[in-house]
Amino acid sequence: MIENKIIDGKTVAAAIEARIKIQAEELLGNRGITPGLAVVLVGTDPASATYVRSKGKACARLGFYSATHTLPEETTEGELLALIAELNSDPRVHGILVQSPMPKHINPDTVVLAIDPRKDVDGFHPANVGRLVIGLPSPEPCTPSGVIAMLKHYGIQTRGKRAVVVGRSMLVGKPLANLLLRKGEGGDAIVTVAHSAAGDLGSITRQADILVAAIGRPGYITANMVKPGAVVIDVGINRVDDPTTEKGYRIVGDVDFDAVAPVASAITPVPGGVGLMTIAMLMNNTLRSAQGAFD
Ligand code: GUN
Repeated sequence: MIENKIIDGKTVAAAIEARIKIQAEELLGNRGITPGLAVVLVGTDPASATYVRSKGKACARLGFYSATHTLPEETTEGELLALIAELNSDPRVHGILVQSPMPKHINPDTVVLAIDPRKDVDGFHPANVGRLVIGLPSPEPCTPSGVIAMLKHYGIQTRGKRAVVVGRSMLVGKPLANLLLRKGEGGDAIVTVAHSAAGDLGSITRQADILVAAIGRPGYITANMVKPGAVVIDVGINRVDDPTTEKGYRIVGDVDFDAVAPVASAITPVPGGVGLMTIAMLMNNTLRSAQGAFD
């Protein structure tokens, strides 16, 4: 049931975590395996530090083994690669995540290539990107996978529907387009990927039965860009200044929520929407890795 049109990330993430917890207990009971996640943070970016802490907390909630490696900003690429090599051969660790953004002197492509693809719970390794496109079992990038999980949870059909993804990043837009294109439940959509080079973006977005905004610009999707009755998924997490709040900023999505909500049949809020799904799907990938799904 969709209450007041809201696709609630908290509800879906809680349901997924409950299922993961049961499966993790089964894995421990049947095979003596505790899923383990290693998170590496290089530097002191406050937003990244918050994300890393919340990943550690999720591991604690689910009974996973968790190792957090916080390295100083001046860590060399060689030192980071040496740590990844250690984690690749650590049997307690089934998932390795190196938090982005990394310091400028570290090449993120080199880092991703160093992670054992079977432990790549972000789904960023080129081998896993390829497996996803081909349709082989692979860790699914967490945020796009979270979007699909939300649609499934609320029984929103994708088969034969026009899905427009605005944004073509490697983190969200491209993998999400691939997931929506797959055969089977949560896929079979007619997918368009639109981006900043689209002249009249509204003429494309108005065709969408399912509209996904992953642009990184606050309030970019306005009511006149949305077909009445469309399902609107907002992946944006943007900080905008707001002196009336304690922190001096507030978090808004890529969609002008107040204007678009009356037009949409269902919509994700920000905060409280897709953002909560990313960690749940990370835990799901870690569990699947521990189960041997990517071996
Ligand atoms: N930084 C922001 N989101 C992510 C993510 O999903 N994975 C990693 N590794 N870094 C991030």
